[in-house]
Amino acid sequence: MYKIIDGKQISAEIKEEMKKEVAALNESGVSVGLAVVLVGNDPASKVYIGNKKKACEALGIVSSEYLLPEDTSEQSLLELVDKLNRDDSVDGILVQLPLPRHLDEKKIINAISPDKDVDAFHPINVGKIMIGDYIFAPCTPAGIIELIERSGISLEGKSCVVIGRSNIVGKPMSMLLLHKNATVTICHSRTKNLAEVVSSADVVVAAVGKPKFVTANMVKEGAVVIDVGINRMADGKLCGDVNFDAVAPKCSYITPVPGGVGPMTIAMLMKNTVAAAKQKQK
Ligand code: GUN
Repeated sequence: MYKIIDGKQISAEIKEEMKKEVAALNESGVSVGLAVVLVGNDPASKVYIGNKKKACEALGIVSSEYLLPEDTSEQSLLELVDKLNRDDSVDGILVQLPLPRHLDEKKIINAISPDKDVDAFHPINVGKIMIGDYIFAPCTPAGIIELIERSGISLEGKSCVVIGRSNIVGKPMSMLLLHKNATVTICHSRTKNLAEVVSSADVVVAAVGKPKFVTANMVKEGAVVIDVGINRMADGKLCGDVNFDAVAPKCSYITPVPGGVGPMTIAMLMKNTVAAAKQKQK
């Protein structure tokens, strides 16, 4: 019988731990601050940043929101980032992506101080992850490591297959698994014999962005399956990258969608923000 990895419960545990850490920092006279910047009116982004704000409030993190109009110039966004970089009350800066098309995402990310880059998207932080000397890891892959380890699953020596090679999930995920001494394979859209490669894995991380892409024939008996996908179906329901009903009976552990990886991202954002505040103390 498979076990469900409950992302809601594990994220609640992490948030509870962070709440205690924030309280301890506050007692020593240190406040923890996160600045969230949204350019434009994307409804999904508005929901995301609303959730981030709520999480901050619940943990005692001071959140500041910067809602800029769709036609904000690159110059004024860079000026805001610069102001936040120099503001001592701001420990973490998150510029919500995607940005409107006229803004150069790379240029904006590169302008954020690496010490405040709680998304870990800055090339300096990406490089630090590569060499295993990092304070921040991107929230989704870091959250997946927490889901696996807090479920009592060891990654040491395991064969892990990551499906997807994005800068935000696939690539950093592979590095984090490697740092846990897993043997890591990255599959992507050009991979030959993908089903065969995936079916050799002890741990599968599916981050493809295609609903029900991972089917039962691709999964080894007893595998751990982590589903990063959040696909909105025609009926409005959310669906992962894994065909849950078919795959789950073959698994030892599996994450559901929703309620698996999704809730972890905000918990890890809170963790990164607290880590930034602690690092500033040093
Ligand atoms: N948009 C969707 N997810 C994220 C995220 O984790 N960070 C940022 N900055 N933007 C996002």
